[in-house]
Amino acid sequence: MTFKKAEWPRRLRSQEWYGGDSRDNIYHRSWMKNQGLPADLFDGRPVVGICNTWSELTPCNAHLRDLAQRVKHGVYEAGGLPVEFPVFSPGEPSLRPTAMMYRNLCSMDVEEALRANPVDGVVLLAGCDKTTPALLMGAASVDLPAIVVSGGPMLNGWFRGERVGSGTALWQMSEDIKAGKMSRADFLEAEASMSRSPGSCNTMGTASTMASMAEALGMALSGNAAIPAVDSRRRVMAHLTGRRIVDMVKDDLKPSDILTREAFENAIRTNGAIGGSTNAVVHLLALAGRIGVDLTLDDWDRLGRDIPTIVNLMPSGKYLMEEFFYAGGLPVVLKMLLDAGKLNGDALTVAGKPVSDELTEVRNWNEDVIRPVEKALTQQGGIAVLRGNLAPNGAVIKPSAASERLMKHRGRAVVFEDIDDYKAKINDETLDIDETSIMVLKNCGPKGYPGMAEVGNMGLPPKVLRKGITDMVRISDARMSGTAYGTVVLHTSPEAAVGGPLAVVRDGDMIEIDVPGRRLHLDISGAELERRLAAWAPAVETPESGYARLFHTHVQGADTGADFDFLKGGRGKAVPRDSH
Ligand code: FES
Repeated sequence: MTFKKAEWPRRLRSQEWYGGDSRDNIYHRSWMKNQGLPADLFDGRPVVGICNTWSELTPCNAHLRDLAQRVKHGVYEAGGLPVEFPVFSPGEPSLRPTAMMYRNLCSMDVEEALRANPVDGVVLLAGCDKTTPALLMGAASVDLPAIVVSGGPMLNGWFRGERVGSGTALWQMSEDIKAGKMSRADFLEAEASMSRSPGSCNTMGTASTMASMAEALGMALSGNAAIPAVDSRRRVMAHLTGRRIVDMVKDDLKPSDILTREAFENAIRTNGAIGGSTNAVVHLLALAGRIGVDLTLDDWDRLGRDIPTIVNLMPSGKYLMEEFFYAGGLPVVLKMLLDAGKLNGDALTVAGKPVSDELTEVRNWNEDVIRPVEKALTQQGGIAVLRGNLAPNGAVIKPSAASERLMKHRGRAVVFEDIDDYKAKINDETLDIDETSIMVLKNCGPKGYPGMAEVGNMGLPPKVLRKGITDMVRISDARMSGTAYGTVVLHTSPEAAVGGPLAVVRDGDMIEIDVPGRRLHLDISGAELERRLAAWAPAVETPESGYARLFHTHVQGADTGADFDFLKGGRGKAVPRDSH
Protein backbone atom coordinates (compact mmCIF):
# COMPACT_ATOMS: atom_id res chain seq x y z
CA MET A 1 0.00 0.00 0.00
CA THR A 2 1.07 3.57 -0.46
CA PHE A 3 1.57 5.70 2.57
CA LYS A 4 1.73 9.48 2.36
CA LYS A 5 4.05 10.99 4.93
CA ALA A 6 2.82 13.97 6.89
CA GLU A 7 4.45 17.38 6.45
CA TRP A 8 7.36 18.05 8.77
CA PRO A 9 7.87 20.24 10.74
CA ARG A 10 4.36 20.66 12.17
CA ARG A 11 2.88 21.19 15.62
CA LEU A 12 2.60 17.89 17.53
CA ARG A 13 0.04 17.02 20.20
CA SER A 14 2.69 17.24 22.95
CA GLN A 15 2.83 20.96 22.23
CA GLU A 16 -0.69 21.24 23.64
CA TRP A 17 1.09 20.72 26.97
CA TYR A 18 4.56 22.13 26.35
CA GLY A 19 4.31 24.62 23.47
CA GLY A 20 3.61 28.17 24.61
CA ASP A 21 3.93 30.48 27.58
CA SER A 22 0.54 30.17 29.21
CA ARG A 23 0.28 29.36 32.88
CA ASP A 24 -0.65 25.80 32.00
CA ASN A 25 2.28 25.37 29.60
CA ILE A 26 4.65 26.56 32.30
CA TYR A 27 3.01 24.25 34.80
CA HIS A 28 3.51 21.22 32.55
CA ARG A 29 7.12 22.03 31.61
CA SER A 30 8.18 23.11 35.05
CA TRP A 31 7.34 19.81 36.66
CA MET A 32 9.11 17.88 33.93
CA LYS A 33 12.21 19.98 34.49
CA ASN A 34 12.57 18.62 38.01
CA GLN A 35 14.04 15.59 36.24
CA GLY A 36 16.90 17.70 34.91
CA LEU A 37 15.63 18.16 31.37
CA PRO A 38 17.04 21.16 29.42
CA ALA A 39 14.53 23.70 28.08
CA ASP A 40 15.17 22.94 24.43
CA LEU A 41 13.79 19.41 24.84
CA PHE A 42 10.33 21.01 24.88
CA ASP A 43 10.82 22.88 21.62
CA GLY A 44 8.34 20.87 19.54
CA ARG A 45 10.43 17.75 18.96
CA PRO A 46 8.64 14.37 19.12
CA VAL A 47 7.93 13.25 22.65
CA VAL A 48 8.15 9.47 22.69
CA GLY A 49 6.55 7.39 25.41
CA ILE A 50 8.33 4.19 26.36
CA CYS A 51 5.55 2.00 27.66
CA ASN A 52 7.23 -0.48 29.97
CA THR A 53 5.80 -3.72 31.32
CA TRP A 54 8.88 -4.22 33.49
CA SER A 55 8.04 -5.93 36.74
CA GLU A 56 9.79 -8.27 39.10
CA LEU A 57 6.47 -10.05 39.33
CA THR A 58 6.65 -10.63 35.58
CA PRO A 59 10.09 -12.28 35.51
CA CYS A 60 9.92 -12.71 31.74
CA ASN A 61 10.02 -8.89 31.50
CA ALA A 62 12.38 -8.17 34.41
CA HIS A 63 15.17 -7.03 32.06
CA LEU A 64 13.09 -4.45 30.21
CA ARG A 65 14.46 -1.46 32.11
CA ASP A 66 17.82 -2.08 30.49
CA LEU A 67 16.16 -2.20 27.09
CA ALA A 68 14.27 1.01 27.87
CA GLN A 69 17.63 2.75 28.34
CA ARG A 70 18.68 1.53 24.88
CA VAL A 71 15.46 2.85 23.39
CA LYS A 72 16.15 6.20 25.04
CA HIS A 73 19.61 6.36 23.45
CA GLY A 74 17.97 5.91 20.06
CA VAL A 75 15.23 8.46 20.67
CA TYR A 76 17.67 11.14 21.87
CA GLU A 77 20.02 10.39 19.00
CA ALA A 78 17.20 10.93 16.49
CA GLY A 79 16.19 14.21 18.09
CA GLY A 80 13.23 13.14 20.23
CA LEU A 81 12.45 13.33 23.94
CA PRO A 82 11.94 9.88 25.51
CA VAL A 83 9.69 9.48 28.54
CA GLU A 84 9.45 6.05 30.14
CA PHE A 85 6.28 5.08 31.99
CA PRO A 86 5.03 1.89 33.63
CA VAL A 87 1.77 0.10 32.98
CA PHE A 88 0.10 -2.81 34.70
CA SER A 89 2.16 -5.88 33.84
CA PRO A 90 0.13 -9.07 33.42
CA GLY A 91 2.73 -11.72 34.20
CA GLU A 92 1.87 -15.24 33.17
CA PRO A 93 3.83 -17.17 35.81
CA SER A 94 2.16 -15.79 38.91
CA LEU A 95 -1.11 -13.95 38.28
CA ARG A 96 -4.23 -15.64 39.57
CA PRO A 97 -6.76 -16.68 38.54
CA THR A 98 -5.05 -16.20 35.17
CA ALA A 99 -3.07 -13.45 33.45
CA MET A 100 -5.67 -13.43 30.68
CA MET A 101 -8.14 -11.85 33.07
CA TYR A 102 -5.85 -8.81 33.13
CA ARG A 103 -4.99 -8.44 29.43
CA ASN A 104 -7.87 -6.04 28.89
CA LEU A 105 -7.04 -4.14 32.10
CA CYS A 106 -3.47 -3.63 30.87
CA SER A 107 -4.75 -2.49 27.48
CA MET A 108 -7.00 0.08 29.18
CA ASP A 109 -4.02 1.31 31.21
CA VAL A 110 -1.99 1.73 28.01
CA GLU A 111 -4.81 3.46 26.17
CA GLU A 112 -5.56 5.97 28.89
CA ALA A 113 -1.90 6.63 29.68
CA LEU A 114 -1.22 7.45 26.03
CA ARG A 115 -4.25 9.64 25.49
CA ALA A 116 -3.96 11.58 28.74
CA ASN A 117 -0.24 12.30 28.52
CA PRO A 118 1.85 14.58 26.31
CA VAL A 119 3.24 11.91 24.00
CA ASP A 120 3.37 11.86 20.22
CA GLY A 121 4.31 8.25 19.73
CA VAL A 122 5.16 5.20 21.77
CA VAL A 123 7.59 2.32 21.98
CA LEU A 124 5.88 -0.74 23.42
CA LEU A 125 8.19 -2.85 25.59
CA ALA A 126 6.64 -6.26 25.99
CA GLY A 127 7.61 -9.90 26.39
CA CYS A 128 5.46 -12.18 28.49
CA ASP A 129 2.36 -13.63 26.81
CA LYS A 130 -0.33 -11.06 27.55
CA THR A 131 1.90 -7.99 27.54
CA THR A 132 2.35 -7.96 23.76
CA PRO A 133 -1.35 -8.14 22.81
CA ALA A 134 -2.36 -5.81 25.65
CA LEU A 135 0.09 -3.11 24.57
CA LEU A 136 -0.85 -3.47 20.91
CA MET A 137 -4.56 -3.28 21.76
CA GLY A 138 -4.13 -0.17 23.90
CA ALA A 139 -1.98 1.54 21.28
CA ALA A 140 -4.43 0.62 18.51
CA SER A 141 -7.28 2.22 20.45
CA VAL A 142 -5.42 5.53 20.56
CA ASP A 143 -3.77 5.25 17.14
CA LEU A 144 -0.64 7.24 17.87
CA PRO A 145 2.52 6.08 16.07
CA ALA A 146 3.60 2.91 17.88
CA ILE A 147 6.29 0.25 17.56
CA VAL A 148 7.03 -2.92 19.51
CA VAL A 149 10.32 -4.02 21.04
CA SER A 150 10.11 -7.52 22.42
CA GLY A 151 12.12 -8.55 25.45
CA GLY A 152 13.31 -11.63 23.57
CA PRO A 153 13.36 -15.28 24.59
CA MET A 154 15.46 -16.94 27.28
CA LEU A 155 18.49 -18.99 26.29
CA ASN A 156 17.89 -22.68 25.68
CA GLY A 157 17.26 -24.80 28.74
CA TRP A 158 19.38 -27.94 29.02
CA PHE A 159 18.93 -30.89 31.38
CA ARG A 160 21.20 -33.96 31.17
CA GLY A 161 22.06 -33.33 27.55
CA GLU A 162 18.50 -32.64 26.41
CA ARG A 163 16.88 -29.35 25.45
CA VAL A 164 14.40 -28.22 28.06
CA GLY A 165 11.68 -26.02 26.62
CA SER A 166 9.79 -23.59 28.82
CA GLY A 167 6.43 -25.06 29.73
CA THR A 168 6.65 -27.92 27.24
CA ALA A 169 9.13 -29.81 29.43
CA LEU A 170 7.07 -29.05 32.52
CA TRP A 171 3.94 -30.63 31.02
CA GLN A 172 5.96 -33.61 29.79
CA MET A 173 7.81 -34.20 33.07
CA SER A 174 4.69 -33.92 35.21
CA GLU A 175 3.05 -36.62 33.05
CA ASP A 176 6.24 -38.74 33.36
CA ILE A 177 6.00 -38.51 37.15
CA LYS A 178 2.36 -39.67 37.09
CA ALA A 179 3.38 -42.54 34.80
CA GLY A 180 6.24 -43.48 37.16
CA LYS A 181 8.90 -42.67 34.53
CA MET A 182 10.61 -39.81 36.42
CA SER A 183 11.50 -39.24 40.06
CA ARG A 184 10.46 -36.12 41.96
CA ALA A 185 14.12 -35.45 42.80
CA ASP A 186 14.97 -35.32 39.08
CA PHE A 187 11.98 -33.06 38.49
CA LEU A 188 13.24 -30.61 41.11
CA GLU A 189 16.72 -30.70 39.59
CA ALA A 190 15.26 -29.98 36.16
CA GLU A 191 13.44 -26.91 37.55
CA ALA A 192 16.61 -24.82 37.60
CA SER A 193 17.57 -25.77 34.07
CA MET A 194 14.34 -24.53 32.53
CA SER A 195 14.87 -20.79 33.04
CA ARG A 196 18.55 -19.98 32.89
CA SER A 197 18.61 -16.40 31.63
CA PRO A 198 16.40 -13.31 31.47
CA GLY A 199 13.71 -13.40 28.82
CA SER A 200 10.42 -14.96 27.83
CA CYS A 201 9.62 -18.63 27.22
CA ASN A 202 12.12 -20.19 24.83
CA THR A 203 9.61 -22.42 23.05
CA MET A 204 7.24 -21.30 20.32
CA GLY A 205 4.79 -20.65 23.12
CA THR A 206 2.51 -17.67 23.35
CA ALA A 207 5.23 -15.10 24.10
CA SER A 208 7.33 -16.09 21.07
CA THR A 209 4.20 -16.44 18.99
CA MET A 210 3.00 -12.96 19.89
CA ALA A 211 6.46 -11.47 19.27
CA SER A 212 6.29 -13.16 15.86
CA MET A 213 2.77 -11.84 15.33
CA ALA A 214 3.93 -8.30 16.11
CA GLU A 215 6.67 -8.64 13.49
CA ALA A 216 4.39 -10.32 10.93
CA LEU A 217 1.78 -7.60 11.44
CA GLY A 218 4.46 -5.04 10.62
CA MET A 219 4.43 -3.54 14.12
CA ALA A 220 8.10 -4.30 14.94
CA LEU A 221 11.34 -3.88 13.04
CA SER A 222 12.38 -6.83 10.92
CA GLY A 223 14.12 -9.53 12.98
CA ASN A 224 12.74 -8.38 16.32
CA ALA A 225 10.92 -11.56 17.33
CA ALA A 226 13.68 -14.11 17.86
CA ILE A 227 16.78 -12.32 19.19
CA PRO A 228 17.53 -13.83 22.61
CA ALA A 229 16.99 -11.47 25.54
CA VAL A 230 20.66 -11.54 26.54
CA ASP A 231 22.14 -11.21 23.05
CA SER A 232 23.76 -7.82 22.47
CA ARG A 233 21.75 -7.56 19.26
CA ARG A 234 18.58 -7.30 21.39
CA ARG A 235 19.98 -4.02 22.72
CA VAL A 236 20.80 -2.92 19.21
CA MET A 237 17.19 -3.67 18.22
CA ALA A 238 15.96 -1.48 21.08
CA HIS A 239 18.35 1.31 20.09
CA LEU A 240 17.30 1.20 16.43
CA THR A 241 13.65 1.15 17.43
CA GLY A 242 14.20 4.30 19.48
CA ARG A 243 15.61 5.97 16.40
CA ARG A 244 12.82 4.74 14.19
CA ILE A 245 9.88 5.90 16.30
CA VAL A 246 11.04 9.51 16.01
CA ASP A 247 10.72 9.32 12.24
CA MET A 248 7.39 7.52 12.56
CA VAL A 249 6.08 10.45 14.57
CA LYS A 250 7.37 12.94 12.01
CA ASP A 251 5.76 10.90 9.20
CA ASP A 252 2.61 10.26 11.28
CA LEU A 253 2.80 6.54 10.53
CA LYS A 254 0.11 5.10 12.77
CA PRO A 255 -1.16 1.62 13.73
CA SER A 256 -4.20 2.13 11.49
CA ASP A 257 -1.83 2.54 8.52
CA ILE A 258 -0.13 -0.76 9.34
CA LEU A 259 -2.79 -2.97 10.93
CA THR A 260 -4.79 -3.50 7.76
CA ARG A 261 -6.68 -6.62 6.78
CA GLU A 262 -3.64 -7.62 4.69
CA ALA A 263 -1.43 -7.39 7.77
CA PHE A 264 -3.74 -9.67 9.76
CA GLU A 265 -3.79 -12.15 6.88
CA ASN A 266 0.00 -12.17 6.92
CA ALA A 267 0.02 -12.78 10.66
CA ILE A 268 -2.47 -15.66 10.48
CA ARG A 269 -0.48 -17.40 7.77
CA THR A 270 2.72 -16.79 9.68
CA ASN A 271 1.14 -18.40 12.74
CA GLY A 272 0.55 -21.52 10.67
CA ALA A 273 4.12 -21.55 9.40
CA ILE A 274 5.68 -21.18 12.85
CA GLY A 275 3.31 -23.63 14.56
CA GLY A 276 2.22 -20.75 16.76
CA SER A 277 0.02 -20.72 19.82
CA THR A 278 -3.78 -20.98 19.75
CA ASN A 279 -3.73 -17.94 22.03
CA ALA A 280 -2.88 -15.83 18.99
CA VAL A 281 -6.45 -16.43 17.83
CA VAL A 282 -8.07 -14.53 20.69
CA HIS A 283 -5.41 -11.83 20.75
CA LEU A 284 -5.53 -11.04 17.04
CA LEU A 285 -9.33 -11.08 16.99
CA ALA A 286 -9.34 -8.60 19.87
CA LEU A 287 -6.70 -6.40 18.22
CA ALA A 288 -8.61 -6.40 14.94
CA GLY A 289 -11.71 -5.35 16.86
CA ARG A 290 -9.86 -2.35 18.28
CA ILE A 291 -8.52 -1.16 14.93
CA GLY A 292 -11.75 -1.82 13.02
CA VAL A 293 -10.67 -4.74 10.83
CA ASP A 294 -13.44 -7.28 10.35
CA LEU A 295 -11.56 -10.45 11.27
CA THR A 296 -13.36 -13.67 12.17
CA LEU A 297 -12.62 -17.19 13.34
CA ASP A 298 -13.35 -18.39 9.82
CA ASP A 299 -10.46 -16.24 8.54
CA TRP A 300 -8.19 -18.25 10.82
CA ASP A 301 -9.37 -21.52 9.37
CA ARG A 302 -9.43 -20.38 5.74
CA LEU A 303 -6.08 -18.60 5.70
CA GLY A 304 -4.12 -21.08 7.78
CA ARG A 305 -5.52 -24.29 6.28
CA ASP A 306 -2.92 -24.86 3.57
CA ILE A 307 0.09 -23.40 5.39
CA PRO A 308 2.80 -25.98 6.19
CA THR A 309 4.42 -25.67 9.59
CA ILE A 310 8.08 -25.19 8.73
CA VAL A 311 9.54 -24.00 12.03
CA ASN A 312 10.83 -27.01 13.95
CA LEU A 313 10.37 -25.64 17.46
CA MET A 314 8.77 -27.05 20.57
CA PRO A 315 5.98 -27.74 21.28
CA SER A 316 5.33 -28.92 17.70
CA GLY A 317 8.98 -29.76 16.94
CA LYS A 318 12.45 -30.13 18.38
CA TYR A 319 14.37 -26.86 18.76
CA LEU A 320 14.05 -23.63 20.75
CA MET A 321 14.04 -19.91 20.00
CA GLU A 322 17.80 -19.57 20.25
CA GLU A 323 18.22 -21.91 17.29
CA PHE A 324 15.42 -20.12 15.44
CA PHE A 325 17.38 -16.88 15.75
CA TYR A 326 20.62 -18.48 14.58
CA ALA A 327 18.78 -19.92 11.56
CA GLY A 328 17.66 -16.45 10.53
CA GLY A 329 14.50 -15.96 12.55
CA LEU A 330 11.11 -14.80 11.39
CA PRO A 331 12.29 -12.97 8.23
CA VAL A 332 13.19 -16.39 6.75
CA VAL A 333 9.65 -17.59 7.36
CA LEU A 334 8.14 -14.42 5.89
CA LYS A 335 10.38 -14.78 2.84
CA MET A 336 9.30 -18.38 2.31
CA LEU A 337 5.65 -17.35 2.57
CA LEU A 338 6.28 -14.48 0.14
CA ASP A 339 7.98 -16.77 -2.38
CA ALA A 340 5.04 -19.19 -2.09
CA GLY A 341 2.58 -16.39 -2.83
CA LYS A 342 1.20 -16.59 0.72
CA LEU A 343 2.24 -13.18 2.00
CA ASN A 344 0.82 -9.78 1.10
CA GLY A 345 4.19 -8.27 0.18
CA ASP A 346 2.72 -4.77 -0.11
CA ALA A 347 1.68 -4.63 3.54
CA LEU A 348 3.31 -1.65 5.21
CA THR A 349 5.55 -2.05 8.25
CA VAL A 350 6.84 0.31 10.91
CA ALA A 351 9.88 0.78 8.68
CA GLY A 352 7.58 2.75 6.37
CA LYS A 353 8.14 0.24 3.57
CA PRO A 354 6.32 -2.79 2.18
CA VAL A 355 7.27 -5.93 4.04
CA SER A 356 8.68 -7.46 0.84
CA ASP A 357 11.39 -4.76 0.75
CA GLU A 358 12.76 -6.08 4.04
CA LEU A 359 13.12 -9.64 2.85
CA THR A 360 15.42 -9.32 -0.14
CA GLU A 361 18.66 -10.25 1.66
CA VAL A 362 17.22 -12.99 3.86
CA ARG A 363 18.81 -16.47 3.98
CA ASN A 364 18.00 -19.67 5.84
CA TRP A 365 21.09 -20.81 7.79
CA ASN A 366 19.70 -24.07 9.14
CA GLU A 367 17.21 -26.11 7.16
CA ASP A 368 16.50 -28.47 10.03
CA VAL A 369 15.30 -25.58 12.20
CA ILE A 370 13.42 -23.76 9.42
CA ARG A 371 12.46 -26.55 7.08
CA PRO A 372 11.94 -26.30 3.34
CA VAL A 373 8.26 -26.80 2.52
CA GLU A 374 8.78 -30.37 1.29
CA LYS A 375 10.20 -31.30 4.70
CA ALA A 376 7.59 -29.41 6.74
CA LEU A 377 6.53 -30.76 10.13
CA THR A 378 3.01 -30.88 8.77
CA GLN A 379 1.53 -29.69 5.50
CA GLN A 380 -1.64 -28.67 7.37
CA GLY A 381 -0.41 -26.11 9.89
CA GLY A 382 -2.51 -23.31 11.17
CA ILE A 383 -5.50 -23.44 13.43
CA ALA A 384 -8.52 -25.55 12.58
CA VAL A 385 -11.91 -24.13 13.54
CA LEU A 386 -14.49 -26.77 14.42
CA ARG A 387 -18.22 -26.19 14.46
CA GLY A 388 -21.27 -28.26 15.23
CA ASN A 389 -24.01 -28.55 17.81
CA LEU A 390 -21.37 -28.61 20.55
CA ALA A 391 -19.70 -25.41 19.32
CA PRO A 392 -22.18 -23.30 17.32
CA ASN A 393 -19.84 -20.29 17.47
CA GLY A 394 -16.70 -22.35 16.91
CA ALA A 395 -13.89 -24.07 18.74
CA VAL A 396 -10.22 -24.30 17.81
CA ILE A 397 -7.57 -26.99 17.65
CA LYS A 398 -3.92 -26.86 16.64
CA PRO A 399 -3.41 -29.88 14.37
CA SER A 400 0.39 -29.60 14.44
CA ALA A 401 0.37 -30.27 18.20
CA ALA A 402 -2.26 -33.03 18.03
CA SER A 403 -2.14 -36.78 17.31
CA GLU A 404 -2.92 -37.87 13.78
CA ARG A 405 -4.79 -40.96 15.04
CA LEU A 406 -7.26 -38.77 16.98
CA MET A 407 -8.08 -36.32 14.19
CA LYS A 408 -11.27 -38.30 13.61
CA HIS A 409 -12.58 -39.87 16.77
CA ARG A 410 -15.82 -40.86 18.44
CA GLY A 411 -15.73 -41.37 22.18
CA ARG A 412 -17.66 -41.43 25.41
CA ALA A 413 -17.66 -38.17 27.36
CA VAL A 414 -16.11 -38.05 30.82
CA VAL A 415 -17.30 -34.73 32.19
CA PHE A 416 -15.66 -32.39 34.68
CA GLU A 417 -18.02 -29.59 35.75
CA ASP A 418 -15.13 -27.22 36.47
CA ILE A 419 -11.42 -27.30 37.18
CA ASP A 420 -11.92 -28.24 40.84
CA ASP A 421 -14.05 -31.19 39.81
CA TYR A 422 -11.30 -32.25 37.39
CA LYS A 423 -8.62 -32.02 40.09
CA ALA A 424 -10.76 -33.97 42.52
CA LYS A 425 -11.42 -36.84 40.12
CA ILE A 426 -8.53 -37.22 37.71
CA ASN A 427 -6.21 -39.28 39.94
CA ASP A 428 -9.03 -41.49 41.20
CA GLU A 429 -8.29 -45.01 40.03
CA THR A 430 -12.01 -45.80 40.04
CA LEU A 431 -12.82 -43.04 37.54
CA ASP A 432 -14.60 -44.67 34.60
CA ILE A 433 -12.26 -43.54 31.84
CA ASP A 434 -9.95 -45.09 29.26
CA GLU A 435 -7.91 -43.84 26.31
CA THR A 436 -10.91 -43.86 23.97
CA SER A 437 -12.89 -41.53 26.23
CA ILE A 438 -13.21 -37.82 25.52
CA MET A 439 -12.44 -35.58 28.48
CA VAL A 440 -14.82 -32.61 28.72
CA LEU A 441 -14.08 -29.64 30.97
CA LYS A 442 -16.71 -26.93 31.58
CA ASN A 443 -16.78 -23.45 33.06
CA CYS A 444 -13.24 -22.41 32.15
CA GLY A 445 -14.12 -19.80 29.51
CA PRO A 446 -13.83 -16.00 29.81
CA LYS A 447 -16.69 -15.66 32.31
CA GLY A 448 -16.45 -19.14 33.74
CA TYR A 449 -12.99 -19.36 35.29
CA PRO A 450 -12.94 -16.28 35.25
CA GLY A 451 -10.46 -15.16 32.63
CA MET A 452 -10.28 -18.25 30.42
CA ALA A 453 -7.41 -20.06 32.04
CA GLU A 454 -4.84 -22.21 30.25
CA VAL A 455 -6.22 -25.47 31.59
CA GLY A 456 -7.55 -26.97 28.37
CA ASN A 457 -4.62 -29.39 28.08
CA MET A 458 -5.83 -31.41 31.07
CA GLY A 459 -3.30 -33.98 32.21
CA LEU A 460 -4.34 -37.55 31.50
CA PRO A 461 -5.44 -39.96 34.24
CA PRO A 462 -2.53 -41.99 35.69
CA LYS A 463 -4.09 -45.31 34.76
CA VAL A 464 -4.08 -44.28 31.09
CA LEU A 465 -0.55 -42.87 31.29
CA ARG A 466 0.76 -46.11 32.78
CA LYS A 467 -0.32 -47.91 29.61
CA GLY A 468 2.08 -45.68 27.70
CA ILE A 469 -0.75 -43.59 26.21
CA THR A 470 0.25 -39.94 25.98
CA ASP A 471 -2.73 -38.30 24.25
CA MET A 472 -6.51 -38.31 24.45
CA VAL A 473 -9.14 -35.99 23.00
CA ARG A 474 -9.89 -33.16 25.40
CA ILE A 475 -12.60 -30.53 24.90
CA SER A 476 -13.18 -27.36 26.89
CA ASP A 477 -13.99 -23.67 26.76
CA ALA A 478 -10.55 -22.93 28.22
CA ARG A 479 -7.34 -21.88 26.51
CA MET A 480 -4.12 -23.88 26.35
CA SER A 481 -0.61 -22.69 27.03
CA GLY A 482 1.24 -22.08 23.79
CA THR A 483 3.92 -24.39 25.12
CA ALA A 484 1.50 -27.31 25.42
CA TYR A 485 0.48 -30.04 23.00
CA GLY A 486 -2.10 -32.75 22.45
CA THR A 487 -5.43 -33.32 20.73
CA VAL A 488 -7.02 -30.49 22.62
CA VAL A 489 -10.15 -28.66 21.46
CA LEU A 490 -10.23 -25.19 22.96
CA HIS A 491 -12.24 -21.96 23.14
CA THR A 492 -15.54 -23.83 22.66
CA SER A 493 -18.12 -21.10 22.14
CA PRO A 494 -20.51 -20.11 23.53
CA GLU A 495 -18.84 -21.06 26.78
CA ALA A 496 -20.52 -23.20 29.43
CA ALA A 497 -20.92 -20.32 31.89
CA VAL A 498 -23.32 -18.53 29.53
CA GLY A 499 -25.27 -21.66 28.67
CA GLY A 500 -23.46 -22.89 25.58
CA PRO A 501 -24.13 -26.53 24.64
CA LEU A 502 -20.89 -27.53 26.40
CA ALA A 503 -22.76 -26.83 29.65
CA VAL A 504 -25.19 -29.70 29.11
CA VAL A 505 -22.84 -32.52 28.10
CA ARG A 506 -23.25 -35.48 30.46
CA ASP A 507 -21.07 -38.43 31.37
CA GLY A 508 -21.58 -41.18 28.82
CA ASP A 509 -22.74 -38.93 25.94
CA MET A 510 -21.04 -39.80 22.69
CA ILE A 511 -19.03 -37.04 21.02
CA GLU A 512 -17.61 -37.00 17.50
CA ILE A 513 -14.61 -34.95 16.50
CA ASP A 514 -13.65 -34.69 12.85
CA VAL A 515 -10.81 -32.23 12.31
CA PRO A 516 -10.54 -32.69 8.51
CA GLY A 517 -14.32 -32.17 8.30
CA ARG A 518 -14.13 -29.30 10.83
CA ARG A 519 -16.92 -30.86 12.90
CA LEU A 520 -17.60 -31.17 16.64
CA HIS A 521 -20.79 -33.04 17.38
CA LEU A 522 -22.62 -34.08 20.52
CA ASP A 523 -24.49 -37.20 19.50
CA ILE A 524 -27.87 -36.56 21.07
CA SER A 525 -31.11 -35.59 19.34
CA GLY A 526 -31.95 -31.96 18.69
CA ALA A 527 -34.97 -32.28 20.93
CA GLU A 528 -32.88 -33.67 23.79
CA LEU A 529 -30.34 -30.87 23.39
CA GLU A 530 -33.17 -28.31 23.48
CA ARG A 531 -34.61 -29.94 26.61
CA ARG A 532 -31.28 -29.85 28.41
CA LEU A 533 -30.56 -26.25 27.41
CA ALA A 534 -34.00 -25.15 28.59
CA ALA A 535 -33.34 -26.74 31.98
CA TRP A 536 -29.86 -25.22 32.31
CA ALA A 537 -29.17 -22.80 35.18
CA PRO A 538 -26.01 -20.70 35.52
CA ALA A 539 -23.37 -22.19 37.80
CA VAL A 540 -21.17 -19.10 37.82
CA GLU A 541 -22.31 -15.99 39.68
CA THR A 542 -21.53 -12.41 38.74
CA PRO A 543 -18.97 -11.04 41.24
CA GLU A 544 -20.40 -8.30 43.44
CA SER A 545 -17.79 -5.61 42.91
CA GLY A 546 -14.41 -4.58 41.68
CA TYR A 547 -12.55 -5.44 38.52
CA ALA A 548 -13.90 -9.00 38.64
CA ARG A 549 -17.41 -7.58 38.24
CA LEU A 550 -16.37 -5.31 35.38
CA PHE A 551 -14.68 -8.25 33.71
CA HIS A 552 -17.59 -10.65 34.13
CA THR A 553 -20.15 -8.10 33.00
CA HIS A 554 -18.39 -6.96 29.87
CA VAL A 555 -16.09 -9.69 28.58
CA GLN A 556 -17.14 -11.12 25.23
CA GLY A 557 -16.80 -14.67 23.97
CA ALA A 558 -13.56 -16.28 22.88
CA ASP A 559 -14.88 -16.43 19.32
CA THR A 560 -14.52 -12.65 19.06
CA GLY A 561 -11.36 -12.25 21.14
CA ALA A 562 -12.59 -12.01 24.73
CA ASP A 563 -12.33 -8.22 24.68
CA PHE A 564 -14.67 -5.97 26.65
CA ASP A 565 -17.75 -4.89 24.69
CA PHE A 566 -17.07 -1.23 25.45
CA LEU A 567 -13.50 -1.32 24.16
CA LYS A 568 -14.28 -2.32 20.58
CA GLY A 569 -13.29 0.26 18.00
CA GLY A 570 -10.81 3.06 18.60
CA ARG A 571 -11.28 6.19 20.67
CA GLY A 572 -8.47 8.18 19.09
CA LYS A 573 -5.78 10.52 20.28
CA ALA A 574 -7.68 13.76 20.78
CA VAL A 575 -6.07 15.74 23.58
CA PRO A 576 -8.30 15.80 26.69
CA ARG A 577 -9.12 19.23 28.15
CA ASP A 578 -6.76 20.68 30.75
CA SER A 579 -7.71 21.00 34.40
CA HIS A 580 -5.22 23.54 35.70
FE1 FES B 1 6.13 -15.24 30.58
FE2 FES B 1 6.15 -17.59 29.13
S1 FES B 1 5.49 -17.22 31.16
S2 FES B 1 6.83 -15.62 28.59
